[in-house]
Amino acid sequence: MRIVLGVAGGIAAYKSVLLLRLLREAGHDVRVVPTRSALQFIGRATWEALSGEPVTAEVFEDVDEVAHVAIGRAADLVVVAPATADLLARAASGRADDLLTATLLTAGCPVLLAPAMHSEMWAHPATRANVATLRSRGVHVLEPDSGRLTGADSGPGRLPEPESLLAAALALVPARPDDLSGRTVLISTGGTREPLDPVRYLGNRSSGRQGYALAAAAVARGAEVVVVSANVALPPPAGVRLVAVETAAELRDAVREAARGANAVAMAAAVADFRPVRAEDAKIKKSAGVPFLSVDLVETVDVLAELVAERRPGQVVVGFAAETGDADADVLEHGRAKARRKGADLLAVNPVGHGRGFGSLDNDVTLLDAQGVVVGAMTGSKLDVAHAVWDAVLRLW
Ligand code: CTP
Repeated sequence: MRIVLGVAGGIAAYKSVLLLRLLREAGHDVRVVPTRSALQFIGRATWEALSGEPVTAEVFEDVDEVAHVAIGRAADLVVVAPATADLLARAASGRADDLLTATLLTAGCPVLLAPAMHSEMWAHPATRANVATLRSRGVHVLEPDSGRLTGADSGPGRLPEPESLLAAALALVPARPDDLSGRTVLISTGGTREPLDPVRYLGNRSSGRQGYALAAAAVARGAEVVVVSANVALPPPAGVRLVAVETAAELRDAVREAARGANAVAMAAAVADFRPVRAEDAKIKKSAGVPFLSVDLVETVDVLAELVAERRPGQVVVGFAAETGDADADVLEHGRAKARRKGADLLAVNPVGHGRGFGSLDNDVTLLDAQGVVVGAMTGSKLDVAHAVWDAVLRLW
């Protein structure tokens, strides 16, 4: 899901840092939108590092992206925690004087506000009226917890703990069925690195996001999940067994081992097709007057082809093809040819390059069967794409 985490300027903003982690671990893409005062409590660097997305409170940054409209429109869920008395007042009166309130005006998805403030502010008739107005419009406003507030004072006004906020937020979107329970799925993800010398490697731009989304989606639907992860910088989704690898050869060994017990294998990793014939023991040096360096490469084993050849009865093998299209054929034609060549039960084809695919948050995927026939398509977040892949796998089972 694409979730907007709004943060207003209250001391309880520190709890939202943990909420952000929980949402990310559950596989969601989270865009944090703080208010200017929230940035007095927790800085932009913290939100950006943990969400992996740009953070601003202003509508006048990245104006070309029309963020004040785009963020709300694209969201599947908006959570504001903490929602201060001021934020409730601005939301209730429909103001749009920062990015968060503008986002609230453009969001067509469920909205959850988690108020936190001193008890007197919460009890004030102005706040009561604002909460009633927001609720009458279908906004979900949580009751704050009672207990210790900022100083020695205590009473109603505490922000609930991050786990409770997570549960309240996710309860607003339809739950996924447990339709993968009893199944074990294996996912390879990330990009392999083939060493040239002790400090250099040949690698690729794969972020691992799509593979982690496949894993989070499978966990949410009740599967046992093994992830073979090649050089992914993101935190892995909760509830998976993670096997970290670096090279194509290590990935091949780990995948073959885990595939023995898997009902489905999704090869989302960008595996090197070639590796240097040998990795130098010492760092490669420049030689004066020789402006070229040649490196001999040798083909790696095609792990997907091997999995298809060794497939157990009932095991579904899914390949991924990131294509750019060229003068000879477009993305889909390349995909069809690859589907027939590779023989995987499903091939998820997506266009990459020019800002699409690798590293980006959304994806655009066409699912082909082994004959190259289109059996599904999905444009949306990488989590949406992940669910579409598992839907197609279920149909094959
Ligand atoms: N793959 C693999 N082992 C390799 C290379 C790729 O298992 N050595 C898998 C990838 O994980 C992916 C699928 O094969 O699921 C397609 O990868 P891709 O690089 O697009 O396929 P190639 O056959 O290498 O085609 P191309 O010539 O377009 O690179």
